[in-house]
Amino acid sequence: MAYSDKVIDHYENPRNVGKMDDKADNVGTGMVGAPACGDVMRLQIQVSDEGIIEDAKFKTYGCGSAIASSSLLTEWVKGKSLEQAAEIKNTEIAEELALPPVKIHCSVLAEDAIKAAVQDIRTKRGEETAAE
Ligand code: FES
Ligand code: FES
Repeated sequence: MAYSDKVIDHYENPRNVGKMDDKADNVGTGMVGAPACGDVMRLQIQVSDEGIIEDAKFKTYGCGSAIASSSLLTEWVKGKSLEQAAEIKNTEIAEELALPPVKIHCSVLAEDAIKAAVQDIRTKRGEETAAE
């Protein structure tokens, strides 16, 4: 299967790989796994008191498409509000990276990860969880 140039670019030069202190008050962590293949993704966001995402880091144990999806996502969420970040759809990621049908679940992993990270910081801050 041929990967798109964008997938290869993110795979070879992943942005924002790393780890944040998941105990910190201003850090939200999303850790999700893909039942389809067993890949695991950890996505973390650093959030200001105003609810703006100042930084994002990821670590993905998975295929090139999963790594590219999470790398792209960390670029997209910086500067966004929690609400905006939680609205990112896997279809937008899949479209940007031109993922083939068998790799769509890799972008779902990224959507699940950011939603989990947003949920985590909201829970830490004791906010009501908005129904999706
Ligand atoms: Fe997950 Fe490809 S099946 S790495
Ligand atoms: Fe399973 Fe990509 S995350 S093959």
